[in-house]
Formats: sequence, C-alpha cells, structure tokens
Amino acid sequence: MNANSTPIEVVANADGCQQYGDTQFPYLLQCKTESAEATDAFDWAADSKDSLLHLAETHGAVLLRNFPFPTVEHFDRLIESLGVENFPYKKSLSNAVRVNRTERVFSANEAPPDVQIFFHHEMAQTPLYPVWIMFYCEIPAEQGGATPLCRSDVLYDRLAEECPLFIHDCEKLGLKYSNVMPGDDDPASGMGRSWKSTLGVDSREAAEERLRELNYSWEWQDDGCLRATTPQLPAVLEVSPGRKTFFNQLIAAYSGWKDSRNDPSSAIRHGDGSVLDADAVRRAIELSEELAFDVAWQKGDAVIIDNRVVMHARRTFQGTRKIVASLGSMQNNRFLAPSAG
Ligand code: FE2
Repeated sequence: MNANSTPIEVVANADGCQQYGDTQFPYLLQCKTESAEATDAFDWAADSKDSLLHLAETHGAVLLRNFPFPTVEHFDRLIESLGVENFPYKKSLSNAVRVNRTERVFSANEAPPDVQIFFHHEMAQTPLYPVWIMFYCEIPAEQGGATPLCRSDVLYDRLAEECPLFIHDCEKLGLKYSNVMPGDDDPASGMGRSWKSTLGVDSREAAEERLRELNYSWEWQDDGCLRATTPQLPAVLEVSPGRKTFFNQLIAAYSGWKDSRNDPSSAIRHGDGSVLDADAVRRAIELSEELAFDVAWQKGDAVIIDNRVVMHARRTFQGTRKIVASLGSMQNNRFLAPSAG
C-alpha cells in the first residue's frame, strides 16, 4: 500500500445471491466508503489480489459494486492491480468480433442487441482458454442486457445424476467443434470473426499452416469461407480433486452457432464423431437456465469470473449497452482420456 493511501471499507453481501454448500454465487463485495478515491481502491485490490482470486475460484465469481471505477481505464488499472497475466484477444481463437479499448480490455461481443449469446466457458472450444474472465459495465442497457452466470460444477453434478450415460460419454470421448468462418469480419453475427483475424494470418497458406499446428482439420468453401474442425477437446474439467465442471461450449454451439454460414446441428460431435444425445443436451440447456444468476449491471460494476468454474451468456437488450471484458492466464485445453476403472 502507498504511504498516503486511505483504507477503503469493503463488505461482503449475500443478499439475493445463490447458495451452494458453503459458497455463495456470485460473491458480492460492496465498497462502503463514500466518495472513495480510485487510487485507494487500486491499493486495496493489489493488497487483496490473492484472496480476491481465491474467492473467485471458490465461489465462481466475485462481483465488485459501488467501487470508484468510472471508466474503462479504471477497469484496466484494476486488472493490473490484480496481477493477472493478460491473454490478448489477438492471440485468442475466439469466434466473436471484438474491438480493443486498451491493451487488456476489449468490447465483450459486437453482436447486435437482438442476438442472444448462450451459455459457454470462454474458448473451451479452442486449444487455448483463459482461467480468468473479467467484465466491466461502462453503460448498462436501457432494458435487458444482463450477463447470466451459471455454476458449471453444480450443472455437472445435476447432469451426472440425471443423464449418467451422456456424462460418461462426454468424459470418455470429449467433443469436436466445427464452424465456418467468413473471409472478412461479419459484425452482424455473434460468431462472425474472419478466419484471417481468428488465425492471425493473411493468406490461405498461412492459415493452413496455423491449422496444422493446432491439429485442426479444414475445408475451403467456394465463397472464401473456411470450415474448421477442432481436435478432440475436453467436455469436462476436473478443477480440483473431485470438483468437476461441464467445461465446454456445447450449449452455445447447439443453441446458438447459427448465422448465414453455420448450422448448429453440424457444429458439435463427440470426439469419435458420434452424434450427441439430443435429450441430454436439451436437459443441459434447461438446467443451465434453472441455475442461471443474471448479473443486472450497474454502471461501474466489475466481475471477476473463474472461467473453469462458471459459464456466462448474454441476454438480449434495448438501447446502448457497453460491457467490456478482459481475459487472463492462458491454459492449454488438452483432452486426456480418463483412465480405466
Ligand atoms: Fe464469452
């Protein structure tokens, strides 16, 4: 802490949060200091960074409310204070079109207001994923526009109980995703990022080389679009011994990978190419909605999410909505076949 800083008062508030065992979801922290200084809040975040990240891992998400973070630059400083290693959008294989606001912060998704974005773990459909996803509300929508969150460990437990064969197949076979990327960014789609931008290349040859490195298979289409299929990726992640999450993009791919180029029914298969059990997938979608906690944004809110534990989505909205995001700590997403027995 700087010699001149004044400690701010921060209190936890469980009102309206979900409760699972000893955890509350999300974990809400409110700044109670009237007209607190941003520098004092950054000092608090730097001093509390280990416990804040630990809270996010344990509870799934930490929501910071009423903090003196009026601008995107403040959000950037907050992340810097947390000491989280940046995962730049440029390097990600995300299929969403985004615009960078600072080096660490970019628009959450440029898809139009009437496009719903379904539950997913960020980049669980690619060989690289971030541990942390942080959102900040610059401008809340006039109507709608909440960010629903879903505890994926709870979802896994419910599915294992209700659809044990499906969960068994998910763990044993993993998943493969296919999507068609346009030649140029298409901001009208929730998954309109061009293959050039996604793969960070400017020619077909370079794209093929990158895909080979990533172990994808691919097919060029007559209109310049590229269909790419991932290697076998996990559908379930064991975050800590015995704590498993439904870590994938199954719900989003099944319900939402739909635009002029993409048909959701061919977007996802088990790792051996077999078709998913449609009833179980429907149940997963229903359960994720039953478990959803909608973050109704207030200007200046920031949320720190453990992307391994919690899925996020976006409700449709009216008016201007500016939610920005930042990703941290890149991990390899490797499929490991479960050991026999
Ligand atoms: Fe996302």
